[in-house]
Amino acid sequence: MLGPVLLAASRSAAIRRIVSAAPVTRPMVDRFVAGERLAESMAAVRGLTSRGLEVTLDHLGEDVTDRSEALRSRDAYLALTEALAGEGLGARAEMSVKLSAFGQALPGGHDLALANVTPVVEAAAEAGTTVTLDMEDHTTVDSTLAILGELRTRFPQTGAVVQSYLFRTEDDCRALAGEGSRVRLVKGAYNEPASVAYQDKREVDRAFVRCLKILMSGEGYPMIGSHDPRMVAIAQDLAHRLGRKKDEYEFQMLYGIRPAEQERLVAEGHRMRVYVPYGTDWYGYFMRRLAERPANLAFFLRSLVGR
Ligand code: FDA
Repeated sequence: MLGPVLLAASRSAAIRRIVSAAPVTRPMVDRFVAGERLAESMAAVRGLTSRGLEVTLDHLGEDVTDRSEALRSRDAYLALTEALAGEGLGARAEMSVKLSAFGQALPGGHDLALANVTPVVEAAAEAGTTVTLDMEDHTTVDSTLAILGELRTRFPQTGAVVQSYLFRTEDDCRALAGEGSRVRLVKGAYNEPASVAYQDKREVDRAFVRCLKILMSGEGYPMIGSHDPRMVAIAQDLAHRLGRKKDEYEFQMLYGIRPAEQERLVAEGHRMRVYVPYGTDWYGYFMRRLAERPANLAFFLRSLVGR
C-alpha cells in the first residue's frame, strides 16, 4: 500500500527538501549509496572487487532539467570511466546509466540522450569495459531500446534492462535474447499504471520467471537483478537444466542489500555484480529502495520520530 505513496513522493520537490534535511536520513542513505564523491565510489569498488565481487557504477543524477545538467552527467561518467581505467579491472567494473540523466526527458531528448551517452560508451570500450542502460518508467522504454539498438551496432556489448512488471517485457526479452546481447532482468521499481503493468506482486514474480526462461534459453548473457531468494534459486535451477555454465550468466544485487547473500553466491563460484550508486542526487534512488521494502521504511520512520 505504501509503495505507490513513496514512489509518488520520490517525484515531489517539497518532500525531497524535508527528507534531505532530516539529520536521520544520512545514515540510512549511507546504507544504499557508496558516497557523494567519485573517490568514495572507488573505495567501494576496491573493497567489493577484492572480495571477488564485480561492480556496476551508477552516477546518481536522474532529475536533469536542462541541457547543461545533461552535459554534466556525461562529464561525470567520462571522469568515472577514467577512474575505472586506472583501477585496471576491465569489465569486472562496468557502468550503469539512466538516460534521463543524459537529457532523455528534455525537448528533443531522444537525440540528445543518444548524443550525450555515445562518448561515454566509446570511452568505456576504450577502457575495456561496458555500459548498461538502466530502464526507467514505461514512457521511456521505446526510446531507451531504440538508443540501445543504435549503440549496439558499434558496441554490441552494451547492456539492456527489462522489467518483468510490464506486460510488454516477454516480447522485449524474445527480441533481446540473441547472441552477444547482455540483458539485466529486474522486477521494476517505478509506479506504473494497470494499463501497462501487473499490479499484483505474484503476477510480477510469475512474469519474472517467464522472462528468465526466455533469456536463459536464448543465446545472450542474462544478468539476474534480484534479491529474491526464490528468483535466485529458479535461475540456478534453469541454468543447470539448460546446461549454462556459471560464466554464461550473472547475478546482480544492489549495494547494501543482502551483502551476505552476495558473498555466498561468489563463494559458490557464481558471478555476482553489485550495483554501486554514488553522487549527490540520491533522493529518487533512496525513495525507491524505501518503497521496495516495508522493513526499510519502518526503520527510517522510527529514526525520524526519534524512537
Ligand atoms: P522483491 O522486492 O520482490 O523482494 C523479494 C524478496 O527479496 C524479499 O521478500 C526478501 O526476501 C528479499 N529482499 C528484497 N530486498 C531486501 C532487503 N533490502 N534486505 C533483505 N532481503 C531483501 N529497477 C528498474 O526499474 N530499472 C532498473 O534499471 C533497475 N536496475 C536494477 C539493478 C540491479 C542490480 C538490481 C538488483 C535491481 C534493479 N532495479 C531496477 C530494481 C528492481 O526493479 C527491484 O525494484 C528491486 O530489485 C527489488 O526487487 P527484488 O527482485 O530484489 O525483490
